[in-house]
Amino acid sequence: MTTRRITTKRRIAVIGAGTVGSHLARGLSAAGHDVVLGVRDPEQERAGLEGLARATPAGAAAGADAVVLAVPAAALAAVVPGLGLADGAVVVDATNAVGVPVPDGHDTLGALVADLAPGAAVVKAFNTIGGEHLESATIDGRPAFLPVAGDDRGRPLVVELAGDLGFEVADLGGPDAIRLVEDAARLWIHLAIRCSWGREFAFGVLRP
Ligand SMILES: NC(=O)c1ccc[n+]([C@@H]2O[C@H](COP(=O)([O-])OP(=O)(O)OC[C@H]3O[C@@H](n4cnc5c(N)ncnc54)[C@H](OP(=O)(O)O)[C@@H]3O)[C@@H](O)[C@H]2O)c1
Repeated sequence: MTTRRITTKRRIAVIGAGTVGSHLARGLSAAGHDVVLGVRDPEQERAGLEGLARATPAGAAAGADAVVLAVPAAALAAVVPGLGLADGAVVVDATNAVGVPVPDGHDTLGALVADLAPGAAVVKAFNTIGGEHLESATIDGRPAFLPVAGDDRGRPLVVELAGDLGFEVADLGGPDAIRLVEDAARLWIHLAIRCSWGREFAFGVLRP
């Protein structure tokens, strides 16, 4: 569980309530933030979502300080335009292109999200670790490494949220660094699947 005390309570919308969305929502909620899950059927009872507020995706996004995208990459084009994002809205892209190529014309999924949400401040984060570890941000009590990159207008808030969860956060800089974050996720997935490491690991940082 989180060991930090947040300085500012934020309203966070997490769109998608699967592995990533549910664990991230629980972690941020346990840290003290006001979290609303955006789901297709808010009335549907679902195991694992007990105690978490639910709304439609657009309902969750309305008035949120940050909107996290935790849906399959293939669903982005259907989901993002319907969120009603205001100019300057902070959008956190946690998606990975697993089994689908990044759509033509886009170098990264983050760039695709930026095209789907004109005017939004798109930040890439929370995609380089197994979703179940987003809640505690640790492996055996040691903080996992989390790279963050994207729009200057949104990055400080996302770095703050990742720190609230307990991650060792690396602020990689602007949108040109999103590719590095997506490549880090590709490395994680390669190790987990092709190298048979499984899901019980996270990237960490060694310092003297
Ligand atoms: N799993 C991981 O360890 C992991 C780690 C890092 C990043 N990621 C990335 O994070 C994203 C989510 O992964 P996940 O494992 O959490 O997926 P998941 O368990 O399959 O959950 C996906 C969620 O997206 C929702 N969704 C799908 N299409 C939608 C639509 N058109 N409108 C609204 N909601 C929609 C689903 O809703 P329903 O329940 O209603 O179908 C479900 O709640 C993916 O891009 C994945 O690559 C995954």
